[in-house]
Amino acid sequence: MNDVRTIVILTGAGISAESGLATFRGPGGLWEGHRVEDVCTPEALARDPALVHRFYDLRRAALREVAPNAAHLALARLDADWAGELLIVTQNVDDLHERAGASRLLHMHGELTSALCAGCEARVRWPDPLPPGAACASCGAPALRPDIVFFGEMPYEMERIERALAGCDLFVSIGTSGAVYPAAGFVQLANHYGARTLELNLEPSGGSGWFDESRMGAASVLVPAWVEEILR
Ligand code: OAD
Repeated sequence: MNDVRTIVILTGAGISAESGLATFRGPGGLWEGHRVEDVCTPEALARDPALVHRFYDLRRAALREVAPNAAHLALARLDADWAGELLIVTQNVDDLHERAGASRLLHMHGELTSALCAGCEARVRWPDPLPPGAACASCGAPALRPDIVFFGEMPYEMERIERALAGCDLFVSIGTSGAVYPAAGFVQLANHYGARTLELNLEPSGGSGWFDESRMGAASVLVPAWVEEILR
């Protein structure tokens, strides 16, 4: 891969699984114990804010019990050592990439450690439990909600992501089932613009057929091996 200069990486819940955070789909997944419509839609927030806030409070608290694993650390090493352009786009709302040291990073589905004002759209750091009706420091409205992109809402920074996909030589997808758009369509977009595409996942995903190459296994093994290979 000597000709690679510009890399876009997409990560999903599978990269944090070995740190002890549940993925969404499959046995024991978050969406097995909860109906998406109850905790991850604007309608759910309007209907039962206490339930939605409690769901994300528990997940925010769980971050304190976990640490980045070898896959997060390998991507942070790539971020530090890669001389070309790099963008890590994560669907994850945990903070394990940044705690590992990655900085060329964006959270397209929001962040557990941040709150969003439903009134003025200000985003503020929020490490603690978030009670419904907490006031926004910018506009004063009692409208702070979890800074999570709910189903039916537009993910963050789509223009920047699409620009990066259009200009990259290599697109790598790690630990995602390819079940949720627009992220699930990034491989097709990257293909369309002529990038090589590589998937690193525990098992074949919804998007596997689109990748030039798919490697199956645990992220903590596959990601450090691939980073070693690309930096060589
Ligand atoms: P999923 O739970 O849908 O998929 C996780 C993927 O990771 C599956 O394909 C697993 O096989 C794989 N996996 C599990 N353990 C792994 C390991 N140790 N190493 C490598 N791969 C592993 O999670 P996402 O694809 O991230 O959105 O889900 C996408 C979006 O759906 C989430 O961002 C969330 C959810 O609804 C919102 O909340 C807005």
